[in-house]
Parts: sequence; structure tokens; C-alpha cells
Amino acid sequence: MSAAAVPVIALDGPGGTGKGTVGLQLAQRLGWHFLDSGMLYRALALQALRQGLAMTAEAALAALVETLELDFVRPGPMAGRALLAGEAVELRSESCATAASRLAVLPQVRQALLVRQQAYRHPPGLVADGRDMGSVVFPDARLKIFLTATPEERARRRFRQLENMGIAARLSDLIEAVNQRDARDRDRAQSPMQSALDAVVIDTTGLSRAAVLRRVVTLWERRACVL
Ligand code: C5P
Repeated sequence: MSAAAVPVIALDGPGGTGKGTVGLQLAQRLGWHFLDSGMLYRALALQALRQGLAMTAEAALAALVETLELDFVRPGPMAGRALLAGEAVELRSESCATAASRLAVLPQVRQALLVRQQAYRHPPGLVADGRDMGSVVFPDARLKIFLTATPEERARRRFRQLENMGIAARLSDLIEAVNQRDARDRDRAQSPMQSALDAVVIDTTGLSRAAVLRRVVTLWERRACVL
């Protein structure tokens, strides 16, 4: 099967819409591969911070993509943990997300990461989550979904997530961080976060993850029937 023939489901949208969880569950249900593209941006940011690179050093950051050794543990109790050159690392912190969104505005970095993301397309299929999966990385995806939710709801979800991890945070700070990251992702010149023209938009405000997953599965079953 050529890579282009491998079906892709693209799941885009801002952080805190549950696309990571929904995407992983969808991939498990279909027996497909899963790409959480934000992890690539976060891993690059962490590696750059460790090497003392500025998040604006475009050529050096793009070159760093070539040497980035990123793997994910699966399956087992450590499933989903990122391994940077074999070392388990924490990429979910707010500081990592902020650094990632700063280097994500750089065209050379996005270009270098494009090929790496496309390399995850293997049979029998790929569920890819991010900001530009349907619009840029996999424009031929069989199904494109764009998840949204109000910034307040997304900040509340993040607050609960941090609380469960035992990390103290202020909701007002999280709302501000969500708004700032949205603005950076939406307003950048290259591959801004936007819903592809042919994407189905689902507003997840007030919906449980299980309800969102059900909607996505129904959309895919309908789509798969007519393809
Ligand atoms: O999805 P996640 O919150 O892990 O992404 C972290 C940051 O990486 C985003 O705020 C965004 O700036 C960047 N990103 C991107 N394109 C993607 C995935 C992530 O620009 N496909």
C-alpha cells in the first residue's frame, strides 16, 4: 500500500478540546497508528531549551529537527510517555507548551517537521491530531474534524488536569495562557490554526470526551460507508 493510499483522520483544534484523548481512543478502536503532532513541537522546544537555543533561532531549530530522537512508550502503564533519546521526559508542562508555540511560528521549523509528521502515515491508517493536520500536513485526509470549546472551558479542563497531577495553578492565569497561545497559533503567517474548509466542526463545550468520541466514530462510520 503506498503511503498516499493509507487513510488518515485529521483531528485539529486548540489545546484543551480533548483531541489528544479522543484521537488516541479513536486510533485504538480502529487499530490505527496515532500521531500527537504537538508532542513533536514540545519535544523540539525541550531539546532546544536544554541546548540553550533561543526560540527564535530559526535555522538552528530547523537543523535540530533532523537530530531529534523522539519515541513514545506503548503499550503498558507508561503508555504515551515521551522518550527523548531514550530518556523519559515530561512534555505536558505549560512552559513547554509556551516554548513550543513560540517556535511553531517559524516557517523553516514547520517545514522541517512536516516531513517527519508525514512519515507516521503507515497502514492500516493514521489518526493525526494537531493544528494543521487537515489543512497542511494531510490535506487528503479522509475525514477532517475541528474541535472547539470556549477558552474558559478549556482553561477549566486544564485546571482540573493540573489539580489531578497535584500541580497548583490559578484559573485566571490559565485563561490568559490559553488566550495568548490561541492568538499565537491563529495569527502566525504559516499554517495558522484554522479549520480546513472541508472539516466538520464540533463544539465540545459541555460535552464529555466519551460523547465527542461517539460523534467522531459516527462521522467516520458514515464517511467510510460512502468511500
Ligand atoms: O497540541 P499541543 O498543545 O501539544 O501543541 C503545543 C503547541 O505546538 C501548540 O500551541 C502549537 O503552537 C504547536 N503546534 C502546531 N502545529 C501542530 C501541533 C502543535 O503549531 N500541528
